[in-house]
Amino acid sequence: MSQSVLFVCLGNICRSPLAEAALREECASAGLNVIIDSAGTGDWHVGHPPDERAQAVASRNGVDIGHLRGRQVTTSDFHDFDHIIALDNQNLRDLEAMRPDRAIVKLSLLFDHVAGRAGEDVTDPYYGADDGFEQTWAEVTEAARSIRQLFESE
Ligand code: 4NP
Repeated sequence: MSQSVLFVCLGNICRSPLAEAALREECASAGLNVIIDSAGTGDWHVGHPPDERAQAVASRNGVDIGHLRGRQVTTSDFHDFDHIIALDNQNLRDLEAMRPDRAIVKLSLLFDHVAGRAGEDVTDPYYGADDGFEQTWAEVTEAARSIRQLFESE
C-alpha cells in the first residue's frame, strides 16, 4: 500500500504547494510511490492556483505547479493520510486542535525532518519580497530529501 503525506500551511498557495512539488520531484527521481497533497488551515484561497511567485520559483526549478488548486484541511484528511506535515508551529497547533480522537495520523513540523532545525517555522513568504520564495524553495527541497529517506526506511 502506498504511503501518503499532506503538507499544510495557512493559505495553501505558497509554502505547502512548494513542499508538495519538492517531495513529488524527490520521490519521482527515487522511484518511490507516495501519495502527496497539500492544503491550508485557512479558506481564503480555496480553488485558487498557487501564488504567481510560488509558480515562478517552481518553474525556475523545473516544476510546473500551475494546475494545483487551494483547498482547506478537512477532518477526513486525518484519516486519509499517514503523515500530515505542518509548515509552521501555528499551523501545527491548529491541526492538533482539529485532530479527531481516533485518528492515528502522524502529525509533525516540516523542519522536524531536517537535522539541526527541529522546531523552526518555514517563514511565510506571502507578504515579503520575491527572494523569500527562493528561500522557501531551498527549505522545502532540503526537507523533501529527508522525508523521502523517511519513506524509504518505513
Ligand atoms: P501560505 O501563505 O500559508 O504559505 O500559502 C499565505 C498565503 C495567503 C495568506 C496567508 C499566507 N493570506 O492571508 O491570504
